[in-house]
Amino acid sequence: MKIAILGLGTVGGGVLRLLQNQPKTAHLEVAYIFAREIRHPSLDLTGIKVTNDVDEILNSDVELVVEVLGGVDIAYDIHRQCLARGKHVVTANKDMLALHLDELAALGNQYQAQIGYEASCGGGIPIIQVIEHHLAANTITRLLGILNGTTNYILTRMTQEHWTYQQALAMAQQLGYAEKDPTNDVAGLDTSRKMALLSRLAYHKTVDWHQMPIRGIDDVAYDDIEAAKLFGYTMKLVGQSEFDGEHVSMSVEPMLLSNSHVLAHVNGAKNAIFVAGDAVGETMFYGPGAGSLETASAVVADILFIERFGFTGNLVADTGAISTKASPKRAYYFRVEEALERVKTVLNELGVELTHWHEATQVSFLTQPMTAEQLDKIQQQLSVVAYYTVEGV
Ligand code: HSE
Repeated sequence: MKIAILGLGTVGGGVLRLLQNQPKTAHLEVAYIFAREIRHPSLDLTGIKVTNDVDEILNSDVELVVEVLGGVDIAYDIHRQCLARGKHVVTANKDMLALHLDELAALGNQYQAQIGYEASCGGGIPIIQVIEHHLAANTITRLLGILNGTTNYILTRMTQEHWTYQQALAMAQQLGYAEKDPTNDVAGLDTSRKMALLSRLAYHKTVDWHQMPIRGIDDVAYDDIEAAKLFGYTMKLVGQSEFDGEHVSMSVEPMLLSNSHVLAHVNGAKNAIFVAGDAVGETMFYGPGAGSLETASAVVADILFIERFGFTGNLVADTGAISTKASPKRAYYFRVEEALERVKTVLNELGVELTHWHEATQVSFLTQPMTAEQLDKIQQQLSVVAYYTVEGV
């Protein structure tokens, strides 16, 4: 099968390296590479036509196009053109897919062209095929994931080694984990797009990415990381979604995870996705969330799958009966300016139970789960400096 690779950055370079060592059973020929400049002089490009003209590839006899350019609008246009010509596409582009996968899946089905996007969520972790096929017997009710290697690397270094946020971010960029613009990572956007894709797949429902509440890690303070440690919790950027048979609720936020929770021990650039199904119960998938060969592993798996099975159909999600709903009751961590006595009085009046507290320059405390109304009232009655959702009280 003739293929083209669009983009020769961190992931594209890894894909080429892996394909040049492909299993003997595969018969893949990288015929074209689309790149404006070759930044990896060590790559062997013998026999490959390097071009900066996408139309040359679209009009060629290439059967599968690997899009690892990133970005939204140009990539979206290329995907549409490939699918409409019956060319399969394989991509890691979660930013574009989170906005356009519904339309692209239908277009691919019309022209018998497969969309492979295993690499879009969780780097090298097998999760797309797992949810789509291996957990297909289940009604999936909950997803919880550490889905961004850059932010997990930053929080891990800040928590375990007291690195500054800037130091850790610079190292994550150097190691090739971060996006071109790391704002997408640290502001939680990257995680939110992955959570939207996984939720669509898990619940077979269209989800509106724009409705997802998103908080990033850019204003996380040491004081809260340290207080969390004292209470037996670890700060992580977590994407979560829940499905009650009718509604999907999704969010991305830094969260305090109990140290008894398996996700609390997912460190560095590793990712993990926790999936709850009605038949299988609780499952968790763990591995490298970013990196060149790690992500290329998932891209090449899709290529090999398509080479072997061809068009197998793209999931078309159900558009009916979907909306976000009010979040269920949650436990919270707060850091406030008031004295502990005042905190106790306010919580007592609101019927919210305090489980842990610590008095330093400011008072930090954890509560039992509360309603959104109780959360609002605490924010009205106390001077809240920071607050986070808590998982595993
Ligand atoms: N910037 C992303 C991350 C790359 O850090 O997880 C993988 O999607």
